[in-house]
Amino acid sequence: MFTNFPLWPERASTIAGNVDALFIFLLIVSGLITLLIFVCLVYFAARYRYRPGVLAEQIEGSTPLELTWSIIPLFVFVVIFFWGAVVFFKERTPPADATEVYVVAKQWMWKLEHAEGQREINELHVPVGRDVKMIMTSQDVIHSFFIPAFRIKQDVLPGRYTVAWFRATKPGTYHLFCAEYCGTQHSGMIGSIVVQEPAQYEARGPNLQGVFGKPVLLEDGRTVTADENYIRESILDPGAKIVNGYKPVMPTFQGLVSEEQLNALVAYVKSLAQASPGQASSKASASTDALQSKGSQVE
Ligand code: CUA
Repeated sequence: MFTNFPLWPERASTIAGNVDALFIFLLIVSGLITLLIFVCLVYFAARYRYRPGVLAEQIEGSTPLELTWSIIPLFVFVVIFFWGAVVFFKERTPPADATEVYVVAKQWMWKLEHAEGQREINELHVPVGRDVKMIMTSQDVIHSFFIPAFRIKQDVLPGRYTVAWFRATKPGTYHLFCAEYCGTQHSGMIGSIVVQEPAQYEARGPNLQGVFGKPVLLEDGRTVTADENYIRESILDPGAKIVNGYKPVMPTFQGLVSEEQLNALVAYVKSLAQASPGQASSKASASTDALQSKGSQVE
């Protein structure tokens, strides 16, 4: 239902159905009341229209009628209140064992950091069926973290943390929007939430083990050798040569790393040609840490 109806965003989280049900209920109630008002309007306009020689009849109050139009709306509003409160509390209360993701908003990008330390920019990879809690803050002005397909939206404020959570139900790529006007490029402050099958999620990221000096098959069918210049280019201009089977999703580190750090990274990738897997991963995190701390200094 509604899958090809562009006015209705996809439903891809556990809360989405609850929000939609309430919304549809409000829509139907509003529609019925609007209909009632217009039917009465037309009926009374015809029934009590001006006729020459007929005097207007004055009607003075009716207790049963007034009770009816007070009690029925009261009942409807109480239903809306309690239903809304239930959905609100569900949406506002992250499960205690949720995976945490730190989100930093700034003009005009989203920086997301997983509990295990992986960082992403304008993109968040999550596995399907896991509770994910975002702990969010802003580096400058007020932004708003909005994922229509998950039916969640939460303001992101400077100087404090706000929280939002979801459990994705369907693999796919969903829009992330900034929903609070935050300056000239507010409309460009967008990203995507990539929901993957758990196995696919665990296998994220290419393995750099033994890459150096070997031929690399590219997306366009060419084969290049993974030499120093290739590694350098892949860090500074990651879109230039896309490895077969991967998507052009790497952010550039242009301007964020010095020539010395680049040399160190090239040397590191070279060293992976011999290193054992255990050594490689500890070195990898040390090296990424260096990159990241440099990155934050620049910003
Ligand atoms: Cu950030 Cu609008």
